[in-house]
Amino acid sequence: MGIHFDAAERVFCLDTPRSSYRIGLTDAEGFVTHLYYGSRVPDSNLRQTLWYGFERPTVYGETGDQVRFTGSIPSEYPTAGVGDFGTPCLAVETADGGRACALRYAGHRIYGGKPKLNGLPATFGSESDCTTLEIDCVDAVLQLEVTLCYTAFENLDAITRSARITNRADAPARLTSALSACLDMPNRDFDLMTLYGFWSNERMPCRRPIAWGRQGVASERGISSHEENPFLAVMEHSATQTQGQVYAMSFVYSGNFLAEAALTQKEQLRLVMGIHPNGFCWTLEKDEAFQTPEAVLVFSDTGLAGMTHTFHDLYREHLIRGAYRDKARPSLVNNWEATYFDFDTEKLLSIARTAAKSGIEMFVLDDGWFGERNDDTNSLGDWFVNEKKLPGGLKYLSDEIHKLGMQFGIWMEPEMVSPDSELYRAHPDYALQNPGRVPTLSRHQLVLDLSRQDVRDCIYAQIHAVLSSARIDYVKWDMNRPLANVWSAQLPADRQGELYHRYMLGVYELQERMLTDFPHLLLENCCSGGGRFDPGMLYYSPQIWTSDNTEAVDRLRIQEGTALVYPLSSMGAHVAACPSHTNRRVTPFATRGLVSLCGCFGYELDLTKLTESELNEIPGQLENYHTYGDIFRTGDYYRIASFAENGEYDVMMAVSKDQKTAAIVYVQVLSREKHPSPVIYPQGLDKTVRYRDSLTGTVLSGAGWMYGGMALPQMQGDYLGKLIILQATEA
Ligand code: GLA
Repeated sequence: MGIHFDAAERVFCLDTPRSSYRIGLTDAEGFVTHLYYGSRVPDSNLRQTLWYGFERPTVYGETGDQVRFTGSIPSEYPTAGVGDFGTPCLAVETADGGRACALRYAGHRIYGGKPKLNGLPATFGSESDCTTLEIDCVDAVLQLEVTLCYTAFENLDAITRSARITNRADAPARLTSALSACLDMPNRDFDLMTLYGFWSNERMPCRRPIAWGRQGVASERGISSHEENPFLAVMEHSATQTQGQVYAMSFVYSGNFLAEAALTQKEQLRLVMGIHPNGFCWTLEKDEAFQTPEAVLVFSDTGLAGMTHTFHDLYREHLIRGAYRDKARPSLVNNWEATYFDFDTEKLLSIARTAAKSGIEMFVLDDGWFGERNDDTNSLGDWFVNEKKLPGGLKYLSDEIHKLGMQFGIWMEPEMVSPDSELYRAHPDYALQNPGRVPTLSRHQLVLDLSRQDVRDCIYAQIHAVLSSARIDYVKWDMNRPLANVWSAQLPADRQGELYHRYMLGVYELQERMLTDFPHLLLENCCSGGGRFDPGMLYYSPQIWTSDNTEAVDRLRIQEGTALVYPLSSMGAHVAACPSHTNRRVTPFATRGLVSLCGCFGYELDLTKLTESELNEIPGQLENYHTYGDIFRTGDYYRIASFAENGEYDVMMAVSKDQKTAAIVYVQVLSREKHPSPVIYPQGLDKTVRYRDSLTGTVLSGAGWMYGGMALPQMQGDYLGKLIILQATEA
């Protein structure tokens, strides 16, 4: 496995347990061409599908014998201006206005492990986890060096890619596009799958046949967004949850992105992923380098479940960091939907006392504790406690909550400033806005120019003071609007195109600083719900608030789409009040508990207003979370039935890695009277092990359950659920 160079064939061979990736060098020119990606193969020289048959491809020769366009061959990193008419990964504008760029192989290195990406989130791995290949390419005319970086994981069918572009010329080079990865391949009967959505309905899976031309998803909002997620997969039309080939790409980045699939008239498919070129331009002075973020490629020949398992394992083990990477997350109660801005110390403590009695482990104080904030019109940027509301400050509250035996967390929105704030009155230039133009407000707020070191330092000093002022165990880092009026007072005119990316680097730097100074902190990212649920954020926070839509039935779809790529352990999932604040639906407390069990469990309601019987359910829900939470957090996830698809019921399943315990969460959204029970087919069990079903006591082999099926329990009524445990037994 790993990576080696077949020098005779001039082919780089990257192999993972079940996938192979081949990169060839053309003879004369040394173009870096894509030969193959897919199921594991022993061969190096897989040139047989190229236009030029078995001869090594010869294209675009400046020497003259054969002058062809670079687009004639599949490329690892297509460049603009020399005859590749697809979406380029790299477009460069030179000082003389030239736009042509052609890269040729110059050398390579293969080594164990994986380098960090300076200032950027990225997957990591030790020498025994993975092998890295760096291919150096050069455009001699431009004196531009491009290093293509690939890492193949030893135990996972994942290959990561990024590029580092260095200008060696005396004159500056302007990058107008610098994507992270390209995958050229012959088309098959492929479908395209992406995750679309909007606020309160994030990450709905969308699968459709690939059509001619360019299609895909993108964000130009400065955040990865509610609307599209930085993920794309193509799969055989016949592929299912468990069968068929799937090629997926996921972007370890939280800002503007492009994820595109383009089908050409010649039946060639090109997938590209990277920072969106719109609004992007980066100037490199001599010897300066630009590092692209990382794209993750996953291949599965066991359908969508295979893809999902690889992403979950990779992100859990090689992306999420920190004290909570392998630890159970505390159950929490958050006061947002309980009180909104209307609270005082006593109200909060009364919720906390009820929580403590019920066994909830952490209290989270949401928006409204700082500045003069009693609604959302002011005070962002003024991160000092409102003592009128909270006498004794966070310290008093935190101490009281810790005395109850609970941990304490707070909400912050460090990337924002309200025009009605002390910070804005003192430093209006700290906000992103165009001179002379009325700024675009959203939720009454502006975005801070985090590309600026002075702005970051000012905000960080406040964060540091807050986190040092009391015992704070958790921070919910929110971000409640997309970027507009993206102009910085500190960047020259010809560098404004760097601002979106510099902003993201600024956010990453702030979160890194905070985690370095407060390593015990549990960070949960949030963006008006799930507007920045992406792998970039997971590098900093092991969990992300999934959606502001906390209603259990809607959550089924949101959590299903999210779990396609992201581990269950990363999804904040809370039991909320009824009627739901989002859609007024009324669902049983038990069902809300069941749906939340599939993520980082918590409550988002006024516990003091619950009925006696609801309160009595909490200890049981917490016990389930403590007993089975591990299986959801660390096990293999299977989508057994989807309410989004069948309109009736939802079944998800998680199997512990040792295959001894499986938890099945069944929600009957709509009941059908006298209808025979649906039969489901559990997955992921050990065929030879015998499992007892917690509901009926039936004992069957794993094979018996998986092939024979399980009739779902009969329940009368809508919105009802059951947790079914299959436990390995000697019986
Ligand atoms: C966003 C978050 C919510 C809550 C509010 C507070 O909408 O997604 O969970 O924190 O902000 O203003």
